[in-house]
Amino acid sequence: MGKSFAVLGRAFYSNDFDNINYIDKGLFCVDDRGYIENVIKSTDLEYENAVNAYKKENTLYELGDNEVILPGFVDLHIHAPQWAQSGTALDRPLEVWLTEYTFPLEAKYRDLDFADKVYNDVVRTTLYSGTTTAVYFATVDREPSVRLAEICGELGQRAFVGKVVMDEKEANPGYCCDESADSAVSETEKFIEELSGLEGKYSQGVYPVITPRFIPSCSTECLEKLGDLAKNKKLHIQTHCSESDWEHNFAKEKYNMSDAKALNKFGFITDKTILAHAPFLEEEDVKLVASKGASIAHCPLSNAYFAGAVLPLKEFYSKGVNIGLATDISGGYCPNLYSAIRQAVISSRMLNDGVDPSLDKDMRGRKESSVSLNNAFYCATIGGGKALGLPLGKLEKGYSFDIQVLDISKGLPLYYPEKREEELLHKILLLSNENNISQVWVQGKRVK
Ligand code: GUN
Ligand code: FE
Repeated sequence: MGKSFAVLGRAFYSNDFDNINYIDKGLFCVDDRGYIENVIKSTDLEYENAVNAYKKENTLYELGDNEVILPGFVDLHIHAPQWAQSGTALDRPLEVWLTEYTFPLEAKYRDLDFADKVYNDVVRTTLYSGTTTAVYFATVDREPSVRLAEICGELGQRAFVGKVVMDEKEANPGYCCDESADSAVSETEKFIEELSGLEGKYSQGVYPVITPRFIPSCSTECLEKLGDLAKNKKLHIQTHCSESDWEHNFAKEKYNMSDAKALNKFGFITDKTILAHAPFLEEEDVKLVASKGASIAHCPLSNAYFAGAVLPLKEFYSKGVNIGLATDISGGYCPNLYSAIRQAVISSRMLNDGVDPSLDKDMRGRKESSVSLNNAFYCATIGGGKALGLPLGKLEKGYSFDIQVLDISKGLPLYYPEKREEELLHKILLLSNENNISQVWVQGKRVK
């Protein structure tokens, strides 16, 4: 356990899907377990006394006028091993990219020195650019997958990690494949046990996730047995769902039902499920996902390459589906959520307005689809926290003290006060880069 302390500074955080809270001079009081126990504003009566009390104890961290606090981001879907090939071969279709590039790379992590090198790099890179919580796919092999969890633990990132299940001999090469359905499940069980052994070791938390790669990579026997394990363990589950036409049609051909319905049949759609991508969900799928309380990890950059479609985020959200944001390294090439926020807005505007200038203006787009920066910021913070069932994303009492501090004196065009306070947040979201992030804290611990 740490020591209680307070940070004094100005902050933005999402209040709800559409609205932003701004605190001009806030005293963020953090308890010895890393949770916010109180937020005292400069207009509150006890403000002066509280500031002085922390000063006296030497436990006050006062930020400068050029610094702004944002909540840490949640990356709801990222393939840690694929960091080594980020920026590579995105011009190939998903199926080709998987077979020619991704599977050979993922098999390399059996070399634990290679795993250590890349995993340290990807965790540092994401953490230092504001991702305080990440939900990772590791690889098919258990040992390097456990290493990834330990590295997250050691570097201070809150992490959800899955050993990838992929046993289907026709879909996966022999060198990157579970030996059998039974061994896929028993390796997953061992993986869960090993991560449970880390419980309490890292204050920010490192958790196992049940991870069938996607329907095409798993045999029916494996999906049945892994689904039973998921029911018994009640852990988080992550998989890809209806990412592309190819994937969407695969489930229809094999199981005569949509990808989401097939996943549900095996027990993989629960309130702890994260479905990566999912732009092709059909109306009944959306109802199913909403009624089960599962979440979508929206991967806008990756979708621009592999999905061939834009997630109708506004529509799915309005139908009750919780949505978080994700980089999908390396289907998306950029490791930070700033880029995902920007792309979520851009893609949605193209969906809304349409992109083919030869069509009449009214025929071109899908109206009511535009996602605002405030919406995307909500997904990158609160949406991610909801998907994980954790108090993340707000700077209020009871939430984890996960923050990033931005030094806005570098590189941002700030020449006069903005008309509305949230316009400063918008400049930060659109124009800052990793160099602006001067501090990162996770569960009350400074990690950058
Ligand atoms: N579907 C199955 N595996 C993957 C993967 O690694 N990346 C993406 N984008 N889609 C997948
Ligand atoms: Fe993915």
